Amino acid sequence: MKYYAPKGLNDILPEEIPYWHAVEQQVRSIMSVYNYREIRTPIMEKTEVFARGVGEETDVVSKEMYTFDDKGGRSMTLRPENTASVVRAFLEHKVYGKEELSKWYYLGPMFRYESPQKGRSRQFHQYGAEAIGSDDPALDAELIALSVDLLKSLGLEDIGLTINSIGCPSDRENYLEELAEYLEPREDKLCVDCQTRLKTNPLRILDCKNETCQKVVQGGPIITDYLCSECRSHFDRVKSYLDEFDLEYNINPNLVRGLDYYTKTVYEVFSSDLGAQDALVGGGRYDELVELFGGDPTPAVGFAGGIERLVLLLQQLNESKYSPEGLDLYLATIDEQAKRIAVSLQRELRELNITTELDYLDKSLQGQLGYADRYDATYTAILGPREVEQNELTLRDMVTGEQVNVSLDNYKSEIKDRLDG
Ligand code: HAM
Repeated sequence: MKYYAPKGLNDILPEEIPYWHAVEQQVRSIMSVYNYREIRTPIMEKTEVFARGVGEETDVVSKEMYTFDDKGGRSMTLRPENTASVVRAFLEHKVYGKEELSKWYYLGPMFRYESPQKGRSRQFHQYGAEAIGSDDPALDAELIALSVDLLKSLGLEDIGLTINSIGCPSDRENYLEELAEYLEPREDKLCVDCQTRLKTNPLRILDCKNETCQKVVQGGPIITDYLCSECRSHFDRVKSYLDEFDLEYNINPNLVRGLDYYTKTVYEVFSSDLGAQDALVGGGRYDELVELFGGDPTPAVGFAGGIERLVLLLQQLNESKYSPEGLDLYLATIDEQAKRIAVSLQRELRELNITTELDYLDKSLQGQLGYADRYDATYTAILGPREVEQNELTLRDMVTGEQVNVSLDNYKSEIKDRLDG
C-alpha cells in the first residue's frame, strides 16, 4: 500500500453513511421547524477573516489553521469554523438592509490542525446555526433548545448542558484585572501553557484541563460576579426561558469557550459517553463580531456541533435504523438471453423508482441468490431459459421463500403492487 489519507483526514465509507444521512436529515428537518435557512459559504477564506474574527491569540488561529499562499500570493485559510465566514457573508451581501433578523444554518467540513484522537480529527464536520440581528435572550434560549432537541431526537439521552455568561467587554475588562491580580502571584503553580496564557489570554486559564490549574482557579474571582446589570438581567432571562422549556442545565462559571468573539451567553452540550473529547455542541452570543468586521453594531448568537462525535455515539446505540436500505428486487439471470431481457426490465423498473440490481460478476444462480440476500432484497426475479420461453419471470419472496410465476406482459404492476402492499 503506497498511499494513505493525510493524518487526521478520514474517509467516510459507505457503511457509515446511513449515520451521516440520519444526522444531516435531522439537522435539516429541525432547522426548518425552527425557521433557519441554509447558507453555504466557501471552504476557504482570506486568512484575516479568521485571524480577526476568531482572534489572533486563540489556539484555533495561532496553532491550528491550515494556511497557505495561493498562486496570487494571497494568504488563504481552510475554514476552522464557520461563524466568521457567515458574518463576512452577512456583511458582503448587505443582508442587514434586507431583513432585520437572519436565521441561518449550515453543514459542512471544517479544518483544524489538532492532534487526532477519538472524536477529534483535522478535517471534521459541523452543523451549526447563527441568528444575526437580535439581542433577545429568548433567541439564546431557542438555540440552546434547538441544540438539545436535535440530539434528543436522534435518540441520545445522556447529554448534559452547561451554560455561563462572560458578560460584555467592559465587564470582562474589570474581571480580567481581578483575575490577573489573583493569578500572578500563583503563576508558578500554573502549567506552562497557562503561564503563557496569563500574558496572552488569561480567560482561557479558567477552562484549562490541567488539574493543578483547576485547583488554582477554584479559589479565584468568578466572572458572573462581575456582570453589569444588563448582562446579569440577560443571563437571568436566558435561564428563565430554559426553565420554561424544562431544560436542565448547570452553570459553570469557568466555561469561557476557545474563540474570542463571545459576549454574554456561552454554552456547551456534552456527553459523558464520549471520553476526553466530550463536547458535542458549543456556542454562544457574539454581539461585537459584526461591528468588528466593519458593520453597524448587530447582536448575534449561534452554535455549532461536531458530526463525527455524534456519529460515534449513534454507532454505540447501534440501532438497526442505521442499516442501509435494502433493494426492492434482485434480477437473477441464468444465461445471456435472459440477461438481455433483464437489463431492459431493470431500465423500466428504475423508471418506477424500484431499486434493483443484477449480476455483473458472472455468478452462478446460487451466487446471485447470495447477493440478493446480501443486498437485503425484498424480492428476487429469476430469469432462465424456461422463463424466457414462457415469457415470464419467477418472482421469489425473499422472506417467505414463496415463488410465483409472473407474466412479462404485466410484471411491472405485479411487482409494484406487491412492493406497495
Ligand atoms: P467549537 O466549540 O470550536 O465552536 O466547535 C463546535 C463543535 O465542533 C465542538 O463542540 C465539537 O463537537 C466539534 N469540533 C471542534 N473541533 C473538532 C475536531 N477537531 N474534531 C471533531 N470535532 C470537532 C465553533 O466552532 C463555533 N463556531 C460555534 C459557534 C457558532 N459559536 C457561535 N456560533
